[in-house]
Amino acid sequence: MAADLLIRNAWYVAGLSHEFATAQLCGQIIAERPLVLWRTADGKIVAFDERCCHKRMPLSKGRLIEGGLVECAYHGLCYDAAGNCVRVPSHPDGRIPPQLRLRGFPVVEQDGLVWVWPGDPTANGAVRPPRLPEIADPAWETADTGPLPVPANSLLLIENLLDISHFYPLHDGNIGDVENSRIPVRLEEGTRDGNPYVGTVREARGYRQPPFLEDYFGYDLVDRDHTHFLVSPGATRVEMKVWPAGQHGAPGLERGYVIIHAHTPVDRGNHVWRLIVNMPAGQKCKSDPARSAVERFMETFPAVIAEDRWALEQQQRMFAYPDDGYREVFLRPDRALRRAREILTELERAERTPAA
Ligand code: FES
Ligand SMILES: [Fe+2]
Repeated sequence: MAADLLIRNAWYVAGLSHEFATAQLCGQIIAERPLVLWRTADGKIVAFDERCCHKRMPLSKGRLIEGGLVECAYHGLCYDAAGNCVRVPSHPDGRIPPQLRLRGFPVVEQDGLVWVWPGDPTANGAVRPPRLPEIADPAWETADTGPLPVPANSLLLIENLLDISHFYPLHDGNIGDVENSRIPVRLEEGTRDGNPYVGTVREARGYRQPPFLEDYFGYDLVDRDHTHFLVSPGATRVEMKVWPAGQHGAPGLERGYVIIHAHTPVDRGNHVWRLIVNMPAGQKCKSDPARSAVERFMETFPAVIAEDRWALEQQQRMFAYPDDGYREVFLRPDRALRRAREILTELERAERTPAA
């Protein structure tokens, strides 16, 4: 069932690089794994099981003290940046039982994002976090929503992002219109950096932009290329490129955005959504040419996000009831989300049977 999916052996976004200040403890639950993360004095981010080896006190409730040690808030056990306990205040003889060692998890900081692997730390093999170069590239202006908790399985967001046939009626009047659902869809899939990807390509010519998009890009009638790709279980990349109608590919006239959606599962019924928007630096909005289109996006797009969150929450509530004669139907534009569901279900199955 879609609302049950949980993949642990995958890279997930724990935050953007700028969210991790040096020597600040950050507690998070990712794929049912309680984690404590922090940036050490040498700039590296580390992640460990959040539970103190002594009596499960979450270490993010403690503090970082001299020498870069984490001191547990309960009985004061201290751990170094390698996860080793180096001090037990109630053992005046200095003895430290060898079992007092935190379990570490792999972290990669890349392209302005902090990725964590919450599953079996020995199972990441050749799988790397997907490359998303725009976020840290000064040629692009970037903004992000921060972490948005969504009370729904992350697969529901993934399916929402691969399905733009919901732009009408859910987003009617802002980014959506009924014409959007009629644009032919092409499916593409493959594997990159060890991550299976799947997505849709929609090419429209002489297309009338809905109001928000006209404001971000300045053109009303456009030639438009629009793609939505699940690039790993933790991220979906959306790209829109527009030109004035009849001038597809014309140099100097291209406008558009790259939106990265990070979907990080908390557990089977909750995830954290981060939306990171990127537009070429200097792209101005139509209604106020003094302002950047990214600024405008951040003012207006939360209305769209709120509509999607509302829909996901409503869907998730319906998974509480037995299917008992009920079955979802896949329509023609649902091919990408159907493939995404199959691919992710297969990944989940594979990690349950380690021999495979
Ligand atoms: S629970 Fe952490 S020191 Fe006791
Ligand atoms: Fe949506």
